[in-house]
Amino acid sequence: PYESRIRALLGRMTTEEKLGQLQQLTWTNDTGPGEGQNARATELARTGRLGSVLNVFGVKNTNALQKIAVEESRLGIPLVFGLDVIHGYWTTFPIPLAQAAAFDPKVSVSDAEVSAGEARSNGVHWTFAPMMDVARDPRWGRIAEGAGEDPYLTAVLAAAKTRGYQGRSKDADLKAKDRLAACAKHFVAYGGAEGGRDYNTVDVSESRLRNLYLPPFKASVDAGAATVMASFNALNGVPQHGNSHTLTGILKREWGFDGVVVTDYNGVQEMLLHGFAADPAEAGAKGLSAGLDMEMVSTALADHGADLLAEGRIDARRLDDAVARVLRLKFRLGLFDEPYADVDGEVTKPSAKARKAAREAAARSMVLLRNESGVLPLAASAGSVAVVGPFADSEDLLGTWVGPGGAKGPDGVKFPPVTVVDGIRAATGAKVTYEKGVAAEGSDTGGLAKAVAAAKAADVTVVVVGEPAALSGEAASRSEIGLPGAQERLIAAVAETGKPFAVVLVCGRPLTIGGWLEDAPAVLLAWHPGIEAGHAIADVLFGEVNPGGKLPVSFPRSVGQIPVHYNHESTGRPYDPDEPNEKYVSKYLDLPPGPQFPFGHGLSYTTFEVGAPRPAVRTIAASALRAGRSVEVAVEVRNTGKRAGDEVVQLYVRDLVASVVQPVRSLRGFERVTLKQGESKTVRFELGAEELGFWTNDTRGEFVVEPGEMELYAGNSSTAKAMARLTIT
Ligand code: IFM
Repeated sequence: PYESRIRALLGRMTTEEKLGQLQQLTWTNDTGPGEGQNARATELARTGRLGSVLNVFGVKNTNALQKIAVEESRLGIPLVFGLDVIHGYWTTFPIPLAQAAAFDPKVSVSDAEVSAGEARSNGVHWTFAPMMDVARDPRWGRIAEGAGEDPYLTAVLAAAKTRGYQGRSKDADLKAKDRLAACAKHFVAYGGAEGGRDYNTVDVSESRLRNLYLPPFKASVDAGAATVMASFNALNGVPQHGNSHTLTGILKREWGFDGVVVTDYNGVQEMLLHGFAADPAEAGAKGLSAGLDMEMVSTALADHGADLLAEGRIDARRLDDAVARVLRLKFRLGLFDEPYADVDGEVTKPSAKARKAAREAAARSMVLLRNESGVLPLAASAGSVAVVGPFADSEDLLGTWVGPGGAKGPDGVKFPPVTVVDGIRAATGAKVTYEKGVAAEGSDTGGLAKAVAAAKAADVTVVVVGEPAALSGEAASRSEIGLPGAQERLIAAVAETGKPFAVVLVCGRPLTIGGWLEDAPAVLLAWHPGIEAGHAIADVLFGEVNPGGKLPVSFPRSVGQIPVHYNHESTGRPYDPDEPNEKYVSKYLDLPPGPQFPFGHGLSYTTFEVGAPRPAVRTIAASALRAGRSVEVAVEVRNTGKRAGDEVVQLYVRDLVASVVQPVRSLRGFERVTLKQGESKTVRFELGAEELGFWTNDTRGEFVVEPGEMELYAGNSSTAKAMARLTIT
């Protein structure tokens, strides 16, 4: 709808103004326009040589800067303001990995909608989220920001979150005062960083690229993502910021993406360090030619674009296309008609409704890993509860990459989390005592004796241990992923009291917990739960909410076992549980096979029975699947326990013989259902070409549905046993 206006504007723009639209600079809210670090961006905005600013927020700040661009620049083109709103603006939701554990797209939508409403009212137009990098290596700190190891789950949630931020249509809905443009990031395969070391190299086959890393991006683009961010990694020898195969070949040509590809922070300049460009001019030329549309922070195109154009090293049509994409984003956001944030509409704090949504999201994200002898739920009638551990009273409960709501000011965090101690106090009439016991990191065990005394004196103890927020997220890879410091000693000391206790695990990634797991009768994985942490943890501990989350990523037994994802390809020598002593199979001599906890695992305070999958037909032609037909698969689930609860019914597919070696199983459907005691329900899934076919190694993109036998598995984790067959003819 805006194309003629875009053309008209392009016709009036000088080369400098065009290059300016491709430039995004960062901002500091500590000073206003024109001052200190902001001087350069202000001057460029005034002269029409800036397209976007990141890290500016708040009505006063954004409007002041926008006024300069709109009223003082020659063409009055508005700026677009971007910010990392990753899991909340004022209202911090659980980290994205936790949200994935809910196995419920509604949780992702609820975060996205609340975040969008708060951020847009503060003058922000664009979030650099959702992050959808499939990750199989928990050493990688950014696993916290994604949805784990599975491409199907990640794709479903990426699409849900994209719609949650943007609404159903990027052309109709993005103008609304409570919507944000989404950014599908990081394109692509960033989660495959070798050794889990951030920013590291990725080298994968075309089939792995297309079957594992690309599906979430395709789902997000199909859901309307207005922008995509290039990733820092080199892929198969080419830095993503200069990768025309993925940025132009796949994203723009194959998928028809008409939005903006923004670089990551300084990503163009970093092609020099990759040894892929000799100087900034070459990096700019390679980046633009490969398909980048906006340069974040580095200024290669703004500095050298005019010369590159004159020398014929960049194409004038490509430049116009990039500018058109940036202008299209601004039209979609309605900025040409209403460039300013509404002075009276600014949301300045989390509302009660937003907090309620965050509390529900956090409780739905929790995973009950273990519950022996029914320690959980805690009896509401308990006379006394001891709460011990360094995360029971900690701001780290907010998690990595918090928005302005989690930012630290002179008086501490702006909107801190409800602590576990406070949450438990609010949930029970019992006497609650608190002792930290040990430090979150380091060797300080000064409070251990007091914590043990508290545990001895109480009817039951809650031990809150985990990982500080700063140990996950960007540039936060770890080579060991156990509990830091002396926290294991705290668990051992409480266990020695012989009194009942439950461990609450607070973390941003899977941890290795085998060293103490057997000592702990119950373990509730709370992740980094966000602003309502303490309330949500108490909701689950006391059974107000029956936990129903599942692991979106396998928990390894040890770092040496990584990667240990469930959907690994078949080997010629698989481990056979019936022949555990067979030596020449794919296994470790010093570890039991498989992870500590598999993908999809999670317990409940009730029990469920999931029946065998029942496909509506036993045979279907590949041609029918390619023509759009699908097979309905019914799965019955029954609550066989004594209370209402949630189960996530999971459907996995195994292609027995294929022209490219396939995963031993792949998730192809899931649904979280709530069932009363004794209740049952039939869940129905559809398996079509997308679920039953795969991408080959052809770099031109070949998707095939091959004839052969498929095994379908249904159950409540990736180890589901109930099986049916489907033949593709
Ligand atoms: O959006 C982020 C990205 O994920 C990592 N580098 C910085 C960007 C902007 O803050």
